[in-house]
Amino acid sequence: MKFNSKSIHAGSKHCPITGAHVTPIYQTSTFVFKDADQGARRFAGEEEGYIYTRLGNPTIDELETRIAALEGGEAAIATASGMAAISTSFLTLLEKGDHVVVADTLYGCTHSLLSHILPKFGIEITFVDAADPDDVEKAMKQNTKILYVETPANPTLKLVDLRAVSQIAHKYGAYLIVDNTFMTPYLQRPIETGADFVVHSATKYIGGHGDVVAGIIVGPRNIISKMKMPYLKDLGGITSPFDAWLLLRGLKTLGPRMEIHCRNAQKVAEYLEDHPLIEEVHYPGLPSHPQHDLAKRQMDGFGGMISFELKGGIEAGKVLMDSVKLITLAVSLGCVDSLIQHPASMTHSPVPREERLKAGITDGLVRFSVGIEDVEDIIADLDQALNKVKAVI
Ligand SMILES: Cc1ncc(COP(=O)(O)O)c(C=O)c1O
Repeated sequence: MKFNSKSIHAGSKHCPITGAHVTPIYQTSTFVFKDADQGARRFAGEEEGYIYTRLGNPTIDELETRIAALEGGEAAIATASGMAAISTSFLTLLEKGDHVVVADTLYGCTHSLLSHILPKFGIEITFVDAADPDDVEKAMKQNTKILYVETPANPTLKLVDLRAVSQIAHKYGAYLIVDNTFMTPYLQRPIETGADFVVHSATKYIGGHGDVVAGIIVGPRNIISKMKMPYLKDLGGITSPFDAWLLLRGLKTLGPRMEIHCRNAQKVAEYLEDHPLIEEVHYPGLPSHPQHDLAKRQMDGFGGMISFELKGGIEAGKVLMDSVKLITLAVSLGCVDSLIQHPASMTHSPVPREERLKAGITDGLVRFSVGIEDVEDIIADLDQALNKVKAVI
């Protein structure tokens, strides 16, 4: 099956009892055993079947099968949030004394997990400019267990060459984990270019409608099974059957939504680039993006995320964010509707200012998640808000 067919059908099972066409929400915490012997066999792993939703649930299983098929991985786990996916991957794969090499531009809470929480457990972290494979290689050591990147990075839209960094990771016997939230498997499948694991904030494009918080990990079956049992079982960060159902529904329209996100973002980026009040636009689909050629090679589309600098810095940015009407001032991204926010004071506030500046997250940077509204309406809204900015700077 090709992508759109898989996103609707992979792993789908009509209800064997009622024949329900759409997968039911198995909204149950526990599952009934026929008798005490069956319960004992299930706990002993001698008989297949459900026990308790933290250990497995049919709605969640279907989501895991479908996303693994879309990412081209062997297996997947759904988690309570993107951060639960990221922390569960680290806690499963790492041991005291291990070293992790990470990109210096990352979602703020991932940065915070790596800089404050993992070191408490004896894990050493080195931040690198992952856009530069030489910088990555210089940081690798004998005890490096994980190389972790986002591409495009949140919020600078800097890219990482996935083929190059996967070769480096494997040369040193480390796993490459890629956060594919900004791209989704529709636009980029890191496992095909050598990544070992893909993580997602499924809260974003996979859900697509701004009504769920969830995460996904995709990877080799033997390790994913270990992540599930005992790690996720004992750490507890599972998703709920209802949220899994919302994600299954979101996935059915992922391809068509991403097409519109990409088309709209390209037009918005071109509009912003030509606007006299805009200092700089970061979007991989613009020929002015320093890694535009890599974007064309590595991605099947340039995505729906843009960041930009306004003339007049943060004060001008505040006027813009307070003046939009159709566009919503809120964090998160990847919804059908357009969202705008200020990384330095919002999503990336957990990153110390000095490190933010080093990673290119300036005080004046504005992040824009371009929705699937009619692009003329999005541009008209930006235009009226930029006119308000003009009046005050
Ligand atoms: C790139 C990226 N990864 C991970 C996360 C964390 O996901 P969640 O909010 O679902 O925990 C986010 C959240 O914004 C994100 O943007």
